[in-house]
Amino acid sequence: MPTTLTVNGQTQTLDLPDDMPLLWVLREGLDLTGTKFGCGIASCGACTVHLNGEAVRACQTPLAAAAGAQVVTIEGLGQPQALHAVQAAWLRHQVAQCGYCQSGQIMQAAALLAATPHPTDAEIDAAMEGNLCRCGTYPRIRAAIHDAAKGL
Ligand code: FES
Ligand code: FES
Repeated sequence: MPTTLTVNGQTQTLDLPDDMPLLWVLREGLDLTGTKFGCGIASCGACTVHLNGEAVRACQTPLAAAAGAQVVTIEGLGQPQALHAVQAAWLRHQVAQCGYCQSGQIMQAAALLAATPHPTDAEIDAAMEGNLCRCGTYPRIRAAIHDAAKGL
């Protein structure tokens, strides 16, 4: 049976298996390739998206869990001419190195700031610890989150 959900503000009705990971739905079904595959077992955070405003790992979220829900990916967080505060701060701090983990980092950070507008270092570390970065951009991620908090 087709599944209906909202992705980046657009209603989508998809005839895909209920148990297909949301990550594949986004990447293969909707061509939204900003969300990345890293580990596939909810251990790296590269695939982080928002599901009804909460940060979730799309690799371990079945399509059925997103039925009727609002999904936001990195493509829908902001627009080039109207960046989300987190995206703008990321640019100011030149956070990215290879960039592979960064859409997940940004989506996790945006969810943190939506829930906790002025997080402490400890709150940032707790919220971001599941988002791994092989390039070691953690100090710039923390600085950019503090900076983004000022702009919200
Ligand atoms: S690919 Fe989903 S957490 Fe690593
Ligand atoms: S920027 Fe390269 S893995 Fe994070």
